[in-house]
Amino acid sequence: MKAQEVRVRFQPSGRAVDVLPGTKVLEAAGRAGIILQSPCGGRGTCGKCRVRIVSGASETPGERPEALTAEQWAEGFRLACQTAVRGDAVIEVPAESTFESRLQILVGDSGERPRLDPVVRKVFVRLPAPQPQDVRSDMARLRDAVGGEVAIAPEVVRLLPRFLRAHDWQCTAVLSGRRLIALEAGDTSAAACGMAFDIGTTTVVGTLVRLSDGRELAVASRLNSQISYGDDVLSRILKVREDPGALAELQEAIIETANEIILSCCREAGVPEHQIYEAVIAGNSTMQQIFCGFDPSALGELPFVQVFDRAQTLSAARLGLKTNAGAELYVFPQIGGFVGGDTVAGMLAARLDRWPKPVLLVDIGTNGEIVLAHNGRLLATSTAAGPAFEGARIRQGMRATAGAIEKVLIGEDVLWNVIGNVRPTGLCGTALIDAAAELLRHGLLDPQGRILSADEAPTGVSPAVRARLLTDGSETNFLLASAEETAMREPIMLWQKDVRELQLATAAIRAGIQLLLRRSGQRAEALEAVLLAGAFGNFIRRNNARRIGLLPQIPCERIRFIGNAASLGAKMALLSGEERAYAEALRGRAEHVDLSLDAEFQDAFVEAMLFPEREPDPCASA
Ligand code: FES
Repeated sequence: MKAQEVRVRFQPSGRAVDVLPGTKVLEAAGRAGIILQSPCGGRGTCGKCRVRIVSGASETPGERPEALTAEQWAEGFRLACQTAVRGDAVIEVPAESTFESRLQILVGDSGERPRLDPVVRKVFVRLPAPQPQDVRSDMARLRDAVGGEVAIAPEVVRLLPRFLRAHDWQCTAVLSGRRLIALEAGDTSAAACGMAFDIGTTTVVGTLVRLSDGRELAVASRLNSQISYGDDVLSRILKVREDPGALAELQEAIIETANEIILSCCREAGVPEHQIYEAVIAGNSTMQQIFCGFDPSALGELPFVQVFDRAQTLSAARLGLKTNAGAELYVFPQIGGFVGGDTVAGMLAARLDRWPKPVLLVDIGTNGEIVLAHNGRLLATSTAAGPAFEGARIRQGMRATAGAIEKVLIGEDVLWNVIGNVRPTGLCGTALIDAAAELLRHGLLDPQGRILSADEAPTGVSPAVRARLLTDGSETNFLLASAEETAMREPIMLWQKDVRELQLATAAIRAGIQLLLRRSGQRAEALEAVLLAGAFGNFIRRNNARRIGLLPQIPCERIRFIGNAASLGAKMALLSGEERAYAEALRGRAEHVDLSLDAEFQDAFVEAMLFPEREPDPCASA
């Protein structure tokens, strides 16, 4: 049954979402892509998730929390984790309440300054014109003016004599490290930008960043055009293995997607493309290699082998990116097998080696990447969860876009929330997890993953919910939305087969986590934090993810959302040579655990196919 939704608009971003009344502001913000700080795990004690209710109906139970002053309370500040929206609302998010600001603070707290030392810099130079007593070559004259030994790209050398004389020996030199990559007429030293990309198997996100102050000028995302070649990395690798022309086609597709993002960002920010002097990409091993035009075929056979491990620098223009002709592309280092640059970027953003106690980084996508940091060790693995969480291989599954049921609650009847103000057309990954967790809670799904029939349902189950258990032959499916409620006038069901797909995806992640814990001699209870990264991870309801066994059974306050860590890591590398060195050091220290070669993994996987018998302690904020 569609619950009446309310619209929440966030300032200053202007992002808006439709959510069920009673949804916590913390969750609504996450759904709008705004990740708020929540170090206390939503218990209302840290005060870091502070927001201001500008207008609209909201409800915070109880008295003013200690974390807010009387003035703040009077001004409309509330704790996002404790406040539920009851009607349409406008909510202001102070910059310091966002997760990205916490990373800056973390860096600051550790005695370091937020790093801004981009590899690309511009220098305005005035060269003395040649004289009878000064007959240095044009190159030597330029090198001396720039200050020290620099390599000058051949394309620049070719233009040099005419350019210097035509511009009265004054120009701006664009340097990438110790390489001079471009010359520009006049003083353009303030105008320098770069692009940071998170290249996902399904989605690509790009951010246009000003290099002088690190300001984000525009963000855009697009579906990865390679999707027409298959929805997971293996199908794309297979395509390359079978068809000699496919690598170039796939590379062209991803470059085209990146270019669409560049053009969109440039248009929005009013920045010409030639002012982009560098691009950084962070993606999984397959995506990075295809982007560079490197054959990923060896990732399609055991043991899975990458083409490169250390960071790569290539000519962006030669790859076809719409940037300055001299621009370079920095490609993140890779750890091993399917653990690629996006994982290293996530480790960089989360400062994963600096946590005093064991901590787990989990990025749930088509592949689940998991890194366990403990005692100076960094164990990294990748596990094939499959695309179930992205809605694929789910009979009525879809990505989390307009029309997707994204949240399911079961009480006297079933309530659901749909993305966008439209009738539902399917369900996305979060709804799949919610539905399974709720069915487990009501005793309608057994630990083996079988949906019970109406006759088998426990006595306390309401008649309305019982009527939704529809048995067909030997299987029972669960009715989420009736034909009258949906866009295509067909019922939307949680099918028994969907539960099996969910079990496979969940078991892959859970067994991966267990194996890493075992390898390091740790128990889940010892984890100081589980950091959930990636677009999907940030929308998961922690209570439900724990109920189905996807996440370890640890207190909810230790499960933290860290936003799109790969994207953040890519921006950090774009803005700082030191951060790149740090990323390279993290890669060098990481140990790749190849689950495909691990005999224990199969046993752990089979064990993890069972849903936990019991409900873990509930979270203060799901
Ligand atoms: Fe800590 Fe809200 S007070 S997350």
